Amino acid sequence: MINDNNHEDILVSQIDTGVLTITLNRPKFYNALRNNALKEIADVLTSAEKDNNIKVIIITGGEKVFAAGADIKEMNQLNVVGLLNDNRPVFWNKIANCSKPIIAVVNGFALGAGCELMMHCDIVIAGDNAQIGQPEINLGIIPGAGGTQRLLRTVGKSMAMQMVLSGEFINAEQAKNFGLVSEITLPELSYHRALKLAKVIANKSPIAVRLAKESLLYAYESTLAAGLAAERKAFILLAATDDRTEGITAFIEKRQPIFKGQ
Ligand code: CAA
Repeated sequence: MINDNNHEDILVSQIDTGVLTITLNRPKFYNALRNNALKEIADVLTSAEKDNNIKVIIITGGEKVFAAGADIKEMNQLNVVGLLNDNRPVFWNKIANCSKPIIAVVNGFALGAGCELMMHCDIVIAGDNAQIGQPEINLGIIPGAGGTQRLLRTVGKSMAMQMVLSGEFINAEQAKNFGLVSEITLPELSYHRALKLAKVIANKSPIAVRLAKESLLYAYESTLAAGLAAERKAFILLAATDDRTEGITAFIEKRQPIFKGQ
C-alpha cells in the first residue's frame, strides 16, 4: 500500500479521492533531503503511477519549511567516487518522469535540493513566508539536481545567475514575478488551496491531463517546431478516447462530463 506510512522521512496520506499527499517529515533538520527521503518519494511516485485512483500528487513540507536542501552531513561522507556511484540521480529521474501532475506547497525555506524538488513539481503554491534559493555556492559547490538548468529556463539568465552565484534567497513575491510560483497564499491556507486545485484537476480526463503535462514539459527539451509537432500528435491521439467524446457531448448537452480515463 502506498499510504501505509511505513516511511522514515515522509508521511503519505490520501485524504481526498484522487489526491495523494506526500509530506516531508524531518522537521528537526528542516526536512533536509537525505538519500532515503528521495528514495521514499520516488518509490511512492512509482506506486502512484500504477494506481488509477490517484490522479494528482501534492508534495509539501508543512507550514514552516519545505526543505533546506540535500542533507549536508550525508553529502559530506561522499568523495568523488561516492558521488559518481550515488543513487540520487536515479531517484530524481523517477520524480521528473512521473506522468501525473505534482503540486508543490512551499512554505518557508526551499533551498538547494529543496528548490530543485520544487522545480521538479508542475505547479507551485507558495506561502508568503517562502524563501527560495540555491545557496550551494556558500559550500563551495554548485546545484547538482537541475538547479542551474531548470532555474535558468524558468527565471531567465540574469536572475538564475544572481541566485546561483550569490546564494541569496528570493521571497515568495519575487518567485511569483519570475514564474517559479503560480500563487501565493497565507502559509496556513497553502495546502487547502493546493488541495482545491488538485481536486479540480483530478476531475478532468486523466489521459488528457497526462498528455497535457507531457506536451508542456516537452517545451523544455525541444525546438518550437518539434514541440508543436508533438503537441499536435497528442491532440490527435486524444480523438481516440471515450473521454473526448464524453467531454464534447457533455458540453453540447449542457451537463458536467464524467471522465473515466478511457
Ligand atoms: N542538511 C543537513 N542539516 C540541515 C540542513 C541541511 N541542508 N539545513 C538545516 N539543517 C539542520 C541544521 O544542521 C540544524 O540541525 P542541528 O540543530 O542538529 O544543528 C537544524 O537543521 C536547524 O538549522 P539551523 O540551526 O541552521 O537553523 P537556522 O534557522 O539558523 O537556519 C537555514 C536555517 C538558513 C536553512 C540554515 O540551516 C541553512 O543555511 N541550511 C543549509 C542550506 C543549504 O546550504 N542548502 C543546500 C544544501 S546542498 C544541496 O542541496 C546540493 C544539491 O543541490 C544537490
